Amino acid sequence: MKITFIGLGIMGSRMAANLLKSDVALTVYNRSEEPTKLLEQGGAKVAATIPEAVADADIVFSMLSTPEVVRTVFLGENGALMQMKKGAIWADCTTVNPSFSMEAKVMADQYGIHFLDTPVAGTKPHAENAELVFFVGGNAEKLISIQAYLDMMSKKVMHLGEVSKGASFKMLVNVMLAQSMLIFSETVLLGEKMGLDKDFLLNALPNLVVSAPFTKFKAEMIRANDYSVQFPLEWMYKDLHLATTTAYEHQQPLYLANLTKEVFAAATQNGMGRLDFAAIHQYLEEGK
Ligand SMILES: NC(=O)c1ccc[n+]([C@@H]2O[C@H](COP(=O)([O-])OP(=O)(O)OC[C@H]3O[C@@H](n4cnc5c(N)ncnc54)[C@H](OP(=O)(O)O)[C@@H]3O)[C@@H](O)[C@H]2O)c1
Repeated sequence: MKITFIGLGIMGSRMAANLLKSDVALTVYNRSEEPTKLLEQGGAKVAATIPEAVADADIVFSMLSTPEVVRTVFLGENGALMQMKKGAIWADCTTVNPSFSMEAKVMADQYGIHFLDTPVAGTKPHAENAELVFFVGGNAEKLISIQAYLDMMSKKVMHLGEVSKGASFKMLVNVMLAQSMLIFSETVLLGEKMGLDKDFLLNALPNLVVSAPFTKFKAEMIRANDYSVQFPLEWMYKDLHLATTTAYEHQQPLYLANLTKEVFAAATQNGMGRLDFAAIHQYLEEGK
């Protein structure tokens, strides 16, 4: 099987590296050149253009930033779909909205390409250590044909139903993640204002039964005042936007996620988009 990986950002570069570790015949493409260098040293073929990247591929993985970018790279004029072999599989790992995944499937069908939505749970270290969890939407037989490759990048693969169900579940995860982070931050800051010790709060609060377990890791970022990026704040803002748009499509009120989105919008506007999303704490702390 010839495999192509498009989008070598924080996540994609590490996912592609894990395919290489398993001796996969891998072609990679990235808009900017820098992230391709290490993979080239590891044995990947670097394509200079999208057509070159996908023309021979049996499976194309994409891990791009937003649905708009996936649309440009795959669905647009001279996009990847037009260049791919009939019968090839496109697995999109990007976090997108379910409606976009459906649009991608309809377009892929027109070109004889099999589409699966394959977003992931986990962040930078999980991508690096092949400990991601894939949420897959799409045809079960097609999933079987890519399963070995998903296994090289993950600890678990969950098939959630037809196309768009992977994207749907991923959206729910991030809606909870963003809100839990905001709740944790506000709680710590109020605790400090009431005169409780910051270290005590950062140790004790994440261990309560009412807390989201991931706050243990984010407490360490807050303690060190180090928000080096794992999951960029700007993409959390994007995910909240996609969730609120999706809620509108379903006429489902989403009070708190809409409010949370605006806090992430303001932090992004303040230049914090490329910090980890836990930097929402710094934003609140500085009272901007
Ligand atoms: N980081 C995480 O913890 C995490 C976890 C789960 C899911 N996700 C999701 O996974 C996706 C990727 O996240 P990431 O953290 O890896 O993001 P990232 O580091 O910002 O990488 C984004 C990728 O998209 C490419 N890109 C952006 N605009 C483009 C354009 N106009 N044309 C072509 N390529 C373009 C970038 O290319 P350049 O290198 O040239 O900029 C880069 O390869 C996002 O949808 C995110 O929500 C992230």
